[in-house]
Amino acid sequence: MADYIRKILVTSALPYANGPLHLGHLVETIQTDIWVRFQKMQGHDCIYVCADDAHGTPIMLRAQNEGITPEELIARTDREHRADFDGFLINFDNFHSTHSDENKELAELIYTRLRDGGYIKTRTIKQAYDPEKEMFLPDRFIKGNCPKCGAEDQYGDNCEVCGATYSPTDLKNPVSAVSGATPIEKESEHYFFDLGAFGDMLKAWTHEEHMQPAIRHKLNEWLDGGLQDWDISRDAPYFGFEIPDAPNKYFYVWLDAPIGYLASFKNLCAKREDLDFDSYIKEGSDTEMYHFIGKDIAYFHTLFWPAMLSGAGFRKPSAVFVHGFLTVNGQKMSKSRGTFIQAKTYLDHLNPEYMRYYFAAKLGSGIDDLDLNLDDFMARVNSDLVGKVVNIASRCAGFIKKKFDGKLAAQCSEIKLYEEFEAHGRLIAELYEKREFNAAIREIMSLADRANQYIDEKKPWALAKEEGREQEVHDACSVGLNLFRILITYLKPVLPHMAEQAEAFLNIPPLNWLDIAQPLTDHEINKFKPLMTRIEQDKIDAVLADTQKLLAANKPAEPKKTKKGNNMDPIADTIEFDDFAKIDLRIAKIIKAEHVEGADKLLQLTLDIGGETRNVFAGIKSAYAPEELEGKLTVMVANLAPRKMRFGISEGMVLAAGPGGKDLFVLHPDEGAQPGMRVK
Ligand code: 2FM
Ligand code: ZN
Repeated sequence: MADYIRKILVTSALPYANGPLHLGHLVETIQTDIWVRFQKMQGHDCIYVCADDAHGTPIMLRAQNEGITPEELIARTDREHRADFDGFLINFDNFHSTHSDENKELAELIYTRLRDGGYIKTRTIKQAYDPEKEMFLPDRFIKGNCPKCGAEDQYGDNCEVCGATYSPTDLKNPVSAVSGATPIEKESEHYFFDLGAFGDMLKAWTHEEHMQPAIRHKLNEWLDGGLQDWDISRDAPYFGFEIPDAPNKYFYVWLDAPIGYLASFKNLCAKREDLDFDSYIKEGSDTEMYHFIGKDIAYFHTLFWPAMLSGAGFRKPSAVFVHGFLTVNGQKMSKSRGTFIQAKTYLDHLNPEYMRYYFAAKLGSGIDDLDLNLDDFMARVNSDLVGKVVNIASRCAGFIKKKFDGKLAAQCSEIKLYEEFEAHGRLIAELYEKREFNAAIREIMSLADRANQYIDEKKPWALAKEEGREQEVHDACSVGLNLFRILITYLKPVLPHMAEQAEAFLNIPPLNWLDIAQPLTDHEINKFKPLMTRIEQDKIDAVLADTQKLLAANKPAEPKKTKKGNNMDPIADTIEFDDFAKIDLRIAKIIKAEHVEGADKLLQLTLDIGGETRNVFAGIKSAYAPEELEGKLTVMVANLAPRKMRFGISEGMVLAAGPGGKDLFVLHPDEGAQPGMRVK
């Protein structure tokens, strides 16, 4: 046990509940998980909590587009996120949601304390408003031409072409990305948090050891630039918590997101009698609280969050640990390059510990980006883990099992070497503690080299063939396995599953840092099974191929560009009769036709094709009102693969002809046609 048992609360940033996890998320949770597992192995009382970040406009709109409630969306995402985190062996003590009773209660408590302390002000502001959808539009939901370079289809806050930043009112030809309507400006009363009142506190806090130098530098720049009031309210419709004294006003998602850390912990405290919530979060608490985050959200965690906590009379974080972004093959993860790899896609083909090791081998305590070079990934894991670490055990285990009844020698014949390995534990622990995982891995691998070198020198395979040298074989292999045990202990925070298998093989209780002071002697081990196999190139290729497929399936349909007023394009490519024969044309009865919220051209049709109904989005709004279509027959392509569109899944295509606009005709076949009949 450690001399002093620290009580430590640790968090990773809460992923948004509207999309799958990708490898970028995993850099952070793996980094945090390694640190937490390390602390636990030191005997400390370390609690790791996280949650889904479930509120905000994107989640509300995504649920609408999918035709489900936000609660349904966040429940589904919660299941997916938990499965992915589990797959990567992330060992949360609790995973919760910001859309929870605990979070509502804590957000209201913190807000009312801030309000009663005089830190909340109201002010009327003008904002872009979608008159069709009747909602205020966040900057990201307004698109238009960049005011600087004229590039089309740019967001309301910055131009991806020339990099200019601006406010949405500067955009040329702005449109609402939700409905396509032209936004208007509308006034509304907003609630602001008086961040400036915490300037002195933040200055003092910044100068202490609460963040990395690069972040402290950035924070000082922000502090010197003056602190603006922070707008913490959003108008209905909004998916979040209503502000207690303000009907139809909701907490901005970023107000209750970090409170979600505490909510998840509170939820855990209710399940575990040994944990006392208040003692962790009270001002002056002797417990530690650390947040692992990406560099893009440092502002929220180093300014707003400590100020909110302090204004509400709670403790501030002990430190905020910031990491850089993940790049793949030297470039930003990108959908178009097919490097936006989802957690699940990776897990479908590859062992999570490969990536845990690779990230550990590259992560330092700074905020530099981390590059996943796929060739290097394969080479490094194969050479270090399979070629060096596992190799030590596989070179020694067979002799012990076959020649010595599975028993290690009665004494460690290389006590100096053993002690040298054991003494390295202090340095390696220090490196883990400081999040210098890359340096810790370098140390461990140089020990692995040393162990292999020892076995090379002893050559037990050669000794085993010589008469009277059994003891030397026994000693060498026992030393080899004892060194292997130390290495696995040091790697256990990174490779928990491999460590578990090694414990089973060595026939020992779970390894802890301090247990390795004594070597294993006169101890029976179990049969050796390979602890890890090599990464094969075809598995990496399969991850990339599946990523491409997923990206293609989720790509919004690109509108076909036709020359205005002329849809009579020359027939370019012909298809063979066999291709034509594959098209399954069916008579379909339109049983329901509806407008699609936010779509200019589409109608949503429910079609009956003889006992089976299909949902199809058809671009015929310019020609038909929904009520004109209901009850009519049309022809549809019934065997078109379902396509994911922005508004939902389209399960076929309705045939229509005409130059466009009002003159677009769906076919109305002869009377007597029955839904489901084949047309050809
Ligand atoms: O940037 C994000 O993905 C946010 N969902 C992180 C929230 S972290 C915390 F504050 F909740
Ligand atoms: Zn531009």
